[in-house]
Amino acid sequence: MQSTRTLLLTLGLSAALFSCATTSVTPPPGFPLPRATYDEQWRPQVHFTPQRNWMNDPNGLVYLDGEYHLFYQHNPFGNTWGHMSWGHAVSKDLVHWEELPVAIPEAEDIAIFSGAAVYDKNNTSGLGTAANPPLVAIFTGWNKSTNNQSQYIASSTDKGRTWTRYGTAPVLDIGSTESRDPKVFWHEPGKQWIMVFAKAKEHKVAIYGSKDLKNWNHLSDFGPYGSEGDVWEVPDLIQLPVDGDPTKKKWVMIVSVNGGSLYGGSGIQYFPGEFNGTTFTPDPLPVVSEPTGVVFADFEGPTYGDWVATGDAFGTGPAQGALPGQSPVTGFKGKGLVNTFLNFDQGTGTLTSPEFLINKPFITFLMGGGNHPGETAMNLLVDGKVVRSATGQDSEALRAKFFDVADLKGKKAKLQILDTHTGGWGHINVDHIMFTDAVVNEMEFKTLWADFGKDFYAGVTYDNLPTDEKIWIGWMSNWQYAGALPTYPWRNAQSIPRKLSLKTTPEGLRLAQEPIQALKTQRGVNFSAGNLPVSQVNERLKAAGVRGKTLEVLLEIDAKDAEALGLKLHKSSAEQTVITYNRAAERISVDRTQAGEGSFSNGFPEVHAAPLKNVGDTLTLHVILDTSSIEVFAEDGRVVFSDLTLSSPSSDGIELFSTGGDPVVRKLEVFELKSIWKK
Ligand code: FRU
Repeated sequence: MQSTRTLLLTLGLSAALFSCATTSVTPPPGFPLPRATYDEQWRPQVHFTPQRNWMNDPNGLVYLDGEYHLFYQHNPFGNTWGHMSWGHAVSKDLVHWEELPVAIPEAEDIAIFSGAAVYDKNNTSGLGTAANPPLVAIFTGWNKSTNNQSQYIASSTDKGRTWTRYGTAPVLDIGSTESRDPKVFWHEPGKQWIMVFAKAKEHKVAIYGSKDLKNWNHLSDFGPYGSEGDVWEVPDLIQLPVDGDPTKKKWVMIVSVNGGSLYGGSGIQYFPGEFNGTTFTPDPLPVVSEPTGVVFADFEGPTYGDWVATGDAFGTGPAQGALPGQSPVTGFKGKGLVNTFLNFDQGTGTLTSPEFLINKPFITFLMGGGNHPGETAMNLLVDGKVVRSATGQDSEALRAKFFDVADLKGKKAKLQILDTHTGGWGHINVDHIMFTDAVVNEMEFKTLWADFGKDFYAGVTYDNLPTDEKIWIGWMSNWQYAGALPTYPWRNAQSIPRKLSLKTTPEGLRLAQEPIQALKTQRGVNFSAGNLPVSQVNERLKAAGVRGKTLEVLLEIDAKDAEALGLKLHKSSAEQTVITYNRAAERISVDRTQAGEGSFSNGFPEVHAAPLKNVGDTLTLHVILDTSSIEVFAEDGRVVFSDLTLSSPSSDGIELFSTGGDPVVRKLEVFELKSIWKK
């Protein structure tokens, strides 16, 4: 046990200060923007946000002469998506950022969508000189009158301060309205530039080659593969050493998926594989084995059997696919399913199972239909109370879902499917309910997700880093609700820059991430404890008054001496954000259902969970907590969560917890993280 000092990190909340200004205005050129205070409620203190207005994807990540550039999708004129331009910030350490004027503004002909920047050190483009080689930005121009999306370039010979577009024509136009987000790197063996971009609706990554960044040849297409979602966006193709061995390198294709990623909305998947200079060949996808368990209900008979229906939405028995007037229903097993579209969206009612004993850790099922939590839903009832609930995703496609019920073993329960919603998507589709020892979420196990939280998208890596490291940044938001986030005068943040690596695990090669080392410079007062059980560490945390909105937590804890254990952060009597590791289920989760504000979107108050196998004796967690987000790096970053959490100013407690044991904390370190915005 080392020094214990009080962490009292108070956030001056001045949301009220801003409530008088209702629109953000951009002053005429030459006049600097009035500086935002960076004290507003939910303003991140260790993450980059623009002073004001909308931001989405990181763009053009490139290093040059001691500066890390961060360009980003930006609306210079407001706090919603629009007028897409490249905003710009620079940093000497990837921690402290200086916001510069907009680098590439929306032009009359085109909006400036996502893309990359490279340092063209041999002046292959001829857009600089041998003595002063250029930075070249390669981006998608979206022509608002024709909807065409093509790839354009622009160059800078003054360290990214001013940019000149290379003519007004694209350098690559495949005549598509859905081709975007070029990422470019120099491929030394092939002695050419390689561009990857998304053929979004086709779920493909196009691969092109060029000697001069101006003339591009089609080499191949990759995809569809893995998770398709609605669209593929923002690809990146990188090479990483396996287990840190520079002689053993492996390629990784990174693809952002929007619409229908793991928890709905947007997310990032990756594919280890080989790239031969022309073609990317992915390794086989993980094999998903059926879990052992028993089928509780598969709704194949003519009636609901011993389930009891009320109301007019369920009828007397299961449906056989879509009902009259309904779009095609997909993803159910066999011929029958529960489908409450019987009286279109107007019908309401309940369907309740007979009582059963919970004797396995999971209840798995397939679900589609409306996304109205509590109204188009399946609830798990114990003693008549709802203890778990799931809803659809406003789609007729049934998807694998589950309840983690390890902690409810031995209890008597009922399942109740209900439909009380009569508006749009006022119906629910359910099928194939099983009690299982493991989870069969194909989305979860077949797709390699870079992040199991809901707020990490459009991640791309830096070009021209001074070391061999691969560092990336992702947009810390989700298209499902990005525009509804209640922050002002800015919207959305970038993640902490993270170092990427590839690790061999018993399940195969996995991408691992860790926050960049430089973030340590923000560490302030520190609490630490070691070799004490959870209960005693909690007493010390309490006695020392440890609390904070912005914290870095390093935890090493005996993983085998409790059923479940974890951390509660941003805690008060009313709110908490909970990280839970469940040993029997071999899962880890981040629960933000009680984190604070979440009413702006159905997709926000959720539990996000991931398989975390082979933990061994000690579980290690590295957590970066900011005023409005949590990033969790479990087991040296082989499972990562990035989640926004909008807690109240006074929710700043921290506590460990365990159930079914009082395991020994090998080491706990809690650092205050000082604001990157305040000198
Ligand atoms: C991804 C994305 C890109 C596009 C950009 C537009 O989040 O949709 O595909 O280039 O945002 O802002």
